[in-house]
Amino acid sequence: MMELEVKSGKGNYSIYIGKKEYSLLPDYLEKAHIHTDSPIVLVADKNVLGLSYPQQILSILEHAGYKAYIIDVEPGDESKSLATCESIYYRLLDLGIHRTGVIIAVGGGVIGDLAGFIAATFERGIRFIQAPTTLLAHDSSIGGKVGINLARGKNLVGAFYPPNFVLYDVTVLGSLPEREWRNGMAEVIKHGLIGNKNLLARLYEHPLTSFPGAADAEQLLAAGMKVKVDIVEEDELESGIRMALNLGHTIGHAVEQLSHYAIHHGEAVAIGICAEAQISVARGYLTREEALYIKELFQKHGLPTEVPDLPIEDVFAKIEVDKKHRGSGWTFALPSMTERAKIVHDVTRGEVRAACELS
Ligand SMILES: NC(=O)c1ccc[n+]([C@@H]2O[C@H](COP(=O)([O-])OP(=O)(O)OC[C@H]3O[C@@H](n4cnc5c(N)ncnc54)[C@H](O)[C@@H]3O)[C@@H](O)[C@H]2O)c1
Ligand SMILES: [Zn+2]
Repeated sequence: MMELEVKSGKGNYSIYIGKKEYSLLPDYLEKAHIHTDSPIVLVADKNVLGLSYPQQILSILEHAGYKAYIIDVEPGDESKSLATCESIYYRLLDLGIHRTGVIIAVGGGVIGDLAGFIAATFERGIRFIQAPTTLLAHDSSIGGKVGINLARGKNLVGAFYPPNFVLYDVTVLGSLPEREWRNGMAEVIKHGLIGNKNLLARLYEHPLTSFPGAADAEQLLAAGMKVKVDIVEEDELESGIRMALNLGHTIGHAVEQLSHYAIHHGEAVAIGICAEAQISVARGYLTREEALYIKELFQKHGLPTEVPDLPIEDVFAKIEVDKKHRGSGWTFALPSMTERAKIVHDVTRGEVRAACELS
């Protein structure tokens, strides 16, 4: 078992990573001063409900004397919507949940973002625990960003709302479809680029294209999470270096949305980082060889690296909604092999057009 501590202006919290974490949940709840008089609501999507982890957690909680309930959600990014939020608020009211209630997000980044946003807003905020079940959620479950999408763009409504703790039982990653494992590897590679070049070198030599077993997964998660923890501790509210975590996400979010989520988040991030690497090359922040190395890292993990054929004006329109102007152009976190990322505020349409064509 591993424990990472995250320092946050809104209260420090622990990340517990291990093989038997669900059975330890009652101990962690006690430690977080959540006692049996607090009703607990597990929010999970229907795929994860079919895998029995939520029922397993439910019976552990009931056995320990807690009242616990499950709220189910349709799988997929479309569930990060105002409509889903409204229906969950009513279901919470129907269950008689009020300020003493606690929400546990059991699932991937979609459930973490959605359930976290519900927790941040329901009755002005109730306690919230992340129980990630995807590799990608090693990223989304920490840092406190929660939110939902609007039809015009991703994550346009949200909050900074750190969890009370994160409970990561690595054994659940064994049931992840390979595509979802690969999606998670895109954010692991992103974290490697930002803060752990040794991890990148290891992944280049020995790509991890599927679940490697609990012990190795535990190490991988801890390495990726450490990079993110260090950055969010430095800049929790994203006024500076936290923007590095947006590597690949500016073009990535545009591609993800324009595909109507047929391209999943991690795949879109891989495409976005490769395209944004072309901007870095043109500006002299990366050599051609370094950009190729990054592209090969994604390819070795079965991830797409080329921007699909999309009307470039639509890409511009999505970037425009996603990124406010600051200075003379768009704000981007561009890949670099010598710094965590190059944060720039002057990327032009012409640069994005050229990068999308070259990638
Ligand atoms: N808040 C943040 O800081 C942050 C960071 C990165 C990504 N995100 C968000 O995270 C979302 C993507 O997260 P995701 O890729 O985890 O998506 P997801 O939650 O949709 O999960 C991917 C798929 O895997 C299934 N699944 C989950 N756990 C499983 C398991 N153990 N076994 C089998 N199947 C399982 C889900 O049902 C779903 O179909 C995006 O909405 C993105 O915007 C947020
Ligand atoms: Zn991401």
